Amino acid sequence: MCGIIGYIGNKDPVPILLKGLKRLEYRGYDSSGIALLQDEKLAHIKRAGKVSDLQSLVDDSSIHGNCGIAHTRWATHGIPNDINAHPHLDHTGNIALVHNGIFENYETIKTLLEKRGVQFTSDTDTEVIVQLISELYYNNEKLTFENSVRAALQEVVGAYGIVALCADEPNKIIAARMGSPLVLGVGEGEYFLASDASPIIEHTRNVIYLDDDEFVIIDNEEYSISNIQSKKIVSKTLTRIDLSIEEIEKGEFPHFMLKEIHDQKHSISDTMRGRLNLFDGTTNLGGIVNYLPNILSASRIYITACGTSWHAGLIGKHLIEEYARVPVHVEYASEFRYRNAIIDPNTIVIAISQSGETADSLAAIKKAKELGATTLGICNVVGSSIARETDAGIFTHAGPEIGVASTKAFTAQVTVLIMLALNIGRKKGVSKDRGKELISSLKTVDQDVINILRSIEDIKEVAKSTSMANHYLYLGRGINFPVALEGALKLKEISYIHAEGYPAAEMKHGPIALIDEKMPVVFIAPQDDTFYKVLSNIEEVKARGGIVITITDKINSSIKSLSDFVLLVPKTHKYVFPITSSIILQILAYEIAVLKNCEIDQPRNLAKSVTVE
Ligand code: M6R
Repeated sequence: MCGIIGYIGNKDPVPILLKGLKRLEYRGYDSSGIALLQDEKLAHIKRAGKVSDLQSLVDDSSIHGNCGIAHTRWATHGIPNDINAHPHLDHTGNIALVHNGIFENYETIKTLLEKRGVQFTSDTDTEVIVQLISELYYNNEKLTFENSVRAALQEVVGAYGIVALCADEPNKIIAARMGSPLVLGVGEGEYFLASDASPIIEHTRNVIYLDDDEFVIIDNEEYSISNIQSKKIVSKTLTRIDLSIEEIEKGEFPHFMLKEIHDQKHSISDTMRGRLNLFDGTTNLGGIVNYLPNILSASRIYITACGTSWHAGLIGKHLIEEYARVPVHVEYASEFRYRNAIIDPNTIVIAISQSGETADSLAAIKKAKELGATTLGICNVVGSSIARETDAGIFTHAGPEIGVASTKAFTAQVTVLIMLALNIGRKKGVSKDRGKELISSLKTVDQDVINILRSIEDIKEVAKSTSMANHYLYLGRGINFPVALEGALKLKEISYIHAEGYPAAEMKHGPIALIDEKMPVVFIAPQDDTFYKVLSNIEEVKARGGIVITITDKINSSIKSLSDFVLLVPKTHKYVFPITSSIILQILAYEIAVLKNCEIDQPRNLAKSVTVE
């Protein structure tokens, strides 16, 4: 949610900041801006729209400087317009600041400052902090710029990653973190600050992940990190990042989402690399070994997550309860964090998060820790806040996911949950043969994905015939009910078609009223124990004129005669089917969004990483 970047060094900051903003644009894309400092003068440009709109303004200007900050916004307070775009400047025009997060008590501070005569120009919470810094700095001779920022940060409540410049101190950048991610890149005589490492890696591989309450000063080619309040120096270790540039570019694909759908030919295997043990019918999960005693003796498990990751959690519940026979509760992190859930030292709380930065999931984990639970993270981004906050965890290793609609991260999360469930299950008495059966199917998943990708033309046909629908229903049972939810989420977020996922048998209890000849209904219907029950639901939809799209692993005559379209998933283990069938749903949503000419990688109102509540 919002991307921020800062640069100080001996190169021209403009191309570095603009390219960096493009890399961060997945975090927010309703407006952007840049501020540069040179010869004790601050210049800035900001505008509503995409980074490309800012780029053309910057290209037509003579803006320059020797250090700078930039921002791409996802609006929280104030509509997306030029004025509300960051950077925000104080009333003197000497201080500029970019912010990711929310200052919750901004109204109180704003009222106070207004009483003192400060005039605000924007509707944002961010302007409040920059005006407060200015008030403190210009009205207290003894306060340096650095100490004014520290003092202002102590007045605010909420989450922030900030980077600030002051014209009076032209070779200095100041940054701080509380709740919102911030990474310091350490190059040769140059430094970068950014919301994540993606804009940094083409300049340096050496980064420092900042923690909450940390304050960075980069001055005269040196950096120091200290506690915001106590000023005590914090010693941090440099982390070397292995990410390649190709991984964060879309290459020949028109959209990141399509690239990431195709990446699943190898990303699921990447998730399993070195972790499958066919011989013993089990999995090796090094990241949780030290906490196995707690996991094996746990009386209950909570899985907490948001959006797509929550859907993966619902699948995880089926798997863990099936193999490990321990009760699993799956909760939205935003609900879990504010209720009095039963958590004690015998509880395991697992947070699933692609980004590892989702504010609610992070807060849920912090709460679980406070209450004495063992916390595990299933994250994609190494070095992310949730990965660092949890006691232990399993990385999904799906590679960077840039498209706002999650695809390969989801299949990687489900893969990790299968491996985790089997790992615990085998230690609790699940037979080697059952383990081997599951692992054998996991081992052929790459080929299954390749076969699914070969059927793209069939999926396009379905998209062509249904893209004009205003509503879509997705139905599945058991472990495939979350697949239905995920299919519906994919469609609504990128094509703006209203879609709902339901347990197939629940249709009769309400949603059936919606069905008419304009309503496409997607059935996720593998030939498992509930197949004939789902077949009856298909009959019910057909009887009411609905358009039936069946996703199955075996076509029989009933399916053929009842379905308007059948999409075939290669035969696999019933617990691997959610992975492969969800890829068909990803492609379907993608193709519909293409036909509707939607902004697939940057759908309206969304952002990839939700770092505010
Ligand atoms: O990074 P996280 O997995 O924590 O993100 C959670 C959700 O914001 C995310 O899955 C969201 O629902 C996606 N846009 C879905 O495609």
